[in-house]
Formats: sequence, structure tokens, C-alpha cells
Amino acid sequence: MSDNQLANKSQAWSALFSEPMSDLVKRYTASVGFDQRLWRADIAGSLAHAEMLAAQGILSAGDHAAIQRGLHEIAAEIEAGQFEWKLDLEDVHLNIEARLTERVGLAGKRLHTGRSRNDQVATDVRLWLRGEIDEIAGLLTALQRVLVEQAGTHADVILPGFTHLQVAQPVSFGHHLLAYVEMFARDAERMADVRRRVNRLPLGAAALAGTSYPLDRERVARTLGMVDADGAACVCQNSLDAVSDRDFAIEFSAAASLVMLHVSRLSEELILWMSQNFGFIALPDAFCTGSSIMPQKKNPDVPELARGKTGRVVGHLVGLVTLMKGQPLAYNKDNQEDKEPLFDTVDTLKDTLRIFADMLAGLSVRPDAMRAAALRGHATATDLADYLVKKGLPFRDAHEVVAHAVKSASRQGVDLVALSLGELRAFDARIEADVFDVLSLEGSLNARNVLGGTAPAQVRAQVARHRARLA
Ligand code: ARG
Repeated sequence: MSDNQLANKSQAWSALFSEPMSDLVKRYTASVGFDQRLWRADIAGSLAHAEMLAAQGILSAGDHAAIQRGLHEIAAEIEAGQFEWKLDLEDVHLNIEARLTERVGLAGKRLHTGRSRNDQVATDVRLWLRGEIDEIAGLLTALQRVLVEQAGTHADVILPGFTHLQVAQPVSFGHHLLAYVEMFARDAERMADVRRRVNRLPLGAAALAGTSYPLDRERVARTLGMVDADGAACVCQNSLDAVSDRDFAIEFSAAASLVMLHVSRLSEELILWMSQNFGFIALPDAFCTGSSIMPQKKNPDVPELARGKTGRVVGHLVGLVTLMKGQPLAYNKDNQEDKEPLFDTVDTLKDTLRIFADMLAGLSVRPDAMRAAALRGHATATDLADYLVKKGLPFRDAHEVVAHAVKSASRQGVDLVALSLGELRAFDARIEADVFDVLSLEGSLNARNVLGGTAPAQVRAQVARHRARLA
């Protein structure tokens, strides 16, 4: 075949093949429809590989220059939307390589020396995902900041805290919001940890066994920023493992699922709080929709969708785990199926985090409704028991005394806090006028002035800690 014929043939391996692929099989096996989004990573990986080949004397300076020029031109073409992606060329890698050869001739064909698409794709996905993780880290910080500021504003707002969704003890709304800050902070830690294992270089593993060319893999790793905290190159140490495992993608999906899980729990609360029966909050109109039939409706669509999309992200995690579980070493085409779930996970997560930061910044809070709810359900019963303990009663006996008082209040249809001193003293003569300091909602909160507790003073201290941490 002439060089020209080689450049024009539609498949990289066709010398061996005597019959063409049907359109259906082409469509079935191709990934270019979705993996073209890896193009930046693909070009960055190729530039780093070519630079190393030249430094090692495997590629001439002239070829290296031509490859560099060609790849930069291709990047500009793609950026400008002028690149023609061809299904016949299967994936992002072959599309870019074929275009490079079109542009710079023989040098383009030398780029693939010491490389296989197997180590190329593993490298591309890792580079791409690393960038996405960095964006996600920023979005997690932004969301936490919004929650921390809302917590600071509402440190003194009291709502009922629930266990079993039954009124348990009054808590600060700021404290409640900071619970989610803790969750998102751990999510950010997890993402940072996943990043360390994503950021390792497969290139140089070639198809599966390594390569006979004297590659400098650490040089490529350094060029691509695949280095640890001390600046040492991070290179996959076993070629079979490097090209085949997608555990880094699975780990990321697990971390992403946990973020969504936390968003979903918060969503559930926002939805409840916004219902007429709670009336604790309102979400900004821009995040709600109306009903086509019921004119009075304002529905919390965004949190509902986030709750729903959590299922989708968790589904992708299960998909990836299942994709991997039966694969023998080394690369199998199954792995091409890692991309769509991974891409959709990233898209869903980023959109969700952005929307939640905006939506929560505009949250309106109804302290009166929260307070009224906290005054139903005898939320300060534990405080009365603790009061009696401090007056010398053993806790179990105090618990019993208060249970009687609660029963009596319930029978009268009032909350425990509404009982008079005389009525309370009927249950235990140790009760004195100072009982109302602890039976009030504020008294109950202020009493919990322990690290991690709901006292507004603690909430303010936590807000300060988070602000400093997120600065
Ligand atoms: N498009 C493929 C993928 O996404 C690239 C690797 C193909 N390697 C191969 N030996 N067919 O995994």
C-alpha cells in the first residue's frame, strides 16, 4: 500500500480483515459518539508521549516538531467545532491520530510508537477525571460555604429535632445545616483521596505487557502532572493492571454516590419542610414549578429531581462494578462501557452541586413555624429529667416522673412547657421556679453547650471553624 492508501483506509488494522463491518456493528462497537469528550486529555497525553519519545531518541526532532504542530492545530479545529468526527474511525484516539497523519504525514504515524490504545485510553480517562475531580472539589467548597453562612444567620433559630421523625429535642437550625456541612466536608476528603489514585500514569504499559522501546515513563508522568505531594512521578507499576483495572472510576463513582446521597437526604428534608404541614421554609421560585391543573401549587422540583438523580448515580456505580467483576486480565472491550456512566455521573453531580449552592443561598426560613412546631411534642422532656437529676433524683426515676407529667400535659392537650409550677410540683416536689429556665426552648439549647452540641454558642464556634477551613 502507498502512504496515501494507508492514510485513507478507514480501519487501523484492516490488512488482516477481508470483509467490512456492517453499519450496525460499526455503531455498536464505536465510542467516538461519546468519548470525543476526552479529546483534550488525548492530545495532552500524546504531546507528553511524543516529547518523551524525542528526548529518548526514539523520535527525531523534526518528527516531534511536526507532531506538536499537528496536535495543536487539531486542538484548535476541535475547539472551533470544525473537526469532523468519523464513526469509521471508532474512537477519539483513532480519529485524532488519523487527522494528525492527514496533516503532518509520516510523523503522525510514528506517534503511536511504544503505545497502544489500551494504555492511551486508561491515561485519557484518568487525566480527564482528575480535572473533573478538581472542579467538583471547588463546587463542594462553594456549597459548604453557602450552608455555613446560612447556619451563621440562623444559629438562634429553633426547630424540633427528630428521631424516628418524631419530635425529640429542640435544635438550632444552624446546627441542623452544619450537619450537612460535615457530610460534604467528608465528601471533599474522599474526593481528594480518590484523586491520588486517579492521578497515576498507565502510558508505557502499551497493549498489556510493556514495550520494547526505552521509554521514560516517569518523565511522561511529570509532564502530565502525575506526581505525588513530594513531586515524585506516579506511574502504574504493573502493565497488566495499568491497562485493565477501572477501580479508580469505581472509587470515584462511590464517592460521587455518597455526595448525591447526602444531597438526597437534604432534599428530602427541604421537601418536607416546604410542605404545608411543616411550613418551615420556602425555596426561591426559580427552583420550583407550578402545577398545570392546581393553581395554588408550588412544587419543590429541584430537590425532588436531585433525590431522583441520586438513584441514577448510584445505578452508574452498580453498573461499573458489574462491568468490572468478570473481566480476566488484561484489557477487554467491556471497558469501553465505563465512559457513559462516568460522564453522566460527573455531569449530574456538577449540575446538582451548582444548583444546590444557588438554591440554598436563596432559602427563606420561617422561624415562627419552626418554633411553633418545637412547642408541640414535649421537646423539652429530657431537659426536665436532667433538671431532676441535678436535684438528686436518679435518671431512671426522673425519666418516670417526666413521663407522668407528659401524659398529664397530653391529656390536657398542651405541651409540657405550658404546665404551671403548681402542676409540675405535683409530680415531684423538688421542682422549683427555676425549672422554667430549662423547660424553655432557649434553655434547652443553651444547656447543650458541649463540643458538637446544639447550643447557639457552639454553632457560632463551628461556623467560625468552617469559615476558616473553607477560606
Ligand atoms: N475505545 C476503546 C475504549 O474506550 C479504546 C481502547 C481500544 N482498545 C482495543 N484494544 N480495542 O476502551
